[in-house]
Amino acid sequence: MSNDITTPTATEPTDAHTATGAVDAGTAQRRSAEIEEQLRRDPGPFRVLTGDRPTGKLHLGHYFGTLRNRVRLQNLGVDTFVVVADYQVLTDRDLADHLSEHVEDLVLDYLATGIDPERSTIFAHSAVPALNQLLLPFLSLISVAELNRNPTVKDEIAHSRQSAVSGLMFTYPVHQAADILFCKANLVPVGQDQLPHLEVTRTVARRFNDRYGTDGPVFPTPDALLSAAPLLLGTDGTKMSKSRGNSIALAHTADETARLIKGAKTDAERRITYDPAARPEVSSLVLLAALCQDRDPRDIAEEIGDGGGAVLKKTVTDAVNEHLAPLRARRAEYAADRAFLRKILRAGNERANEVAEQTLSEVRRAMGTAY
Ligand code: TRP
Repeated sequence: MSNDITTPTATEPTDAHTATGAVDAGTAQRRSAEIEEQLRRDPGPFRVLTGDRPTGKLHLGHYFGTLRNRVRLQNLGVDTFVVVADYQVLTDRDLADHLSEHVEDLVLDYLATGIDPERSTIFAHSAVPALNQLLLPFLSLISVAELNRNPTVKDEIAHSRQSAVSGLMFTYPVHQAADILFCKANLVPVGQDQLPHLEVTRTVARRFNDRYGTDGPVFPTPDALLSAAPLLLGTDGTKMSKSRGNSIALAHTADETARLIKGAKTDAERRITYDPAARPEVSSLVLLAALCQDRDPRDIAEEIGDGGGAVLKKTVTDAVNEHLAPLRARRAEYAADRAFLRKILRAGNERANEVAEQTLSEVRRAMGTAY
């Protein structure tokens, strides 16, 4: 892609952080540990924003990687916003097929895992005009060269299903800044791949405040909260992923789960051990049982010992089905009442709109465009 168009008004970042993804993961990790400490002492000053693209049902990788952590933050008493990033679905596909179905599935998965609409605001960003309007001033603060250097976007472009790269694909990290800053979130729980995007948000916030914040800063500079996401493999031994058909979804039934785990790849060695480097498939199954039972994977492997793959799979199936049973029951309950589901989303959208309009009027005042 050409990067010969630069935005003359956008200044290059001058401090240790860059808007291009050259993020020091070690620094982010240390900062996350500090924040965890503060959260335990007093969650009051924090506002969290997280979210997902609605592209299908969530699976165990999402659950143990991010969903559980969100519920934990919510339950610590942190004010939490959860964005259903429906516009973002259009970054790598021409058509957002079955979008409303995917949105409902995502909300169901949230509710099933324990996101409580009384305490957390679940909303779709397409339903919040004032949030989207922030995109325009924000785009003026980032240069095309900076957008071009974002490693996560580069990777997504390389794997895109589109024949041409759309403007949305290129600029969605700035849209994501609007998702985060519209509600002045100061904490964003993310995985490593999202760190470059969070740097864009931090840069947008800093530059906006520098340029327009003569009466004081309008936006916080949000921190990433990195959590140790366990690497769960799918049933074919590659990374668990919606698009690879190798995942166990929260929405699967106990029988479907049993069938999927039965077909999971293992290896020829009978004795079960926990050795992720040498035996990734077997170890991932052991880890899954361990996560479900909140135990040490080595103890589980030890117990199965010479029982082999059959006992391992039975153990994992029972552990997953037992752990997910209450969650699946809750999911089914909500799924039976679509009208109620819509009501939850509408209430979340309404709250998000109030917050976004408040922020947009501050932005207008700061920019001198409040007519
Ligand atoms: N990009 C995220 C993903 O693909 C989804 C997302 C959209 C998001 N807006 C966000 C995540 C804001 C964190 C904060 O999963």
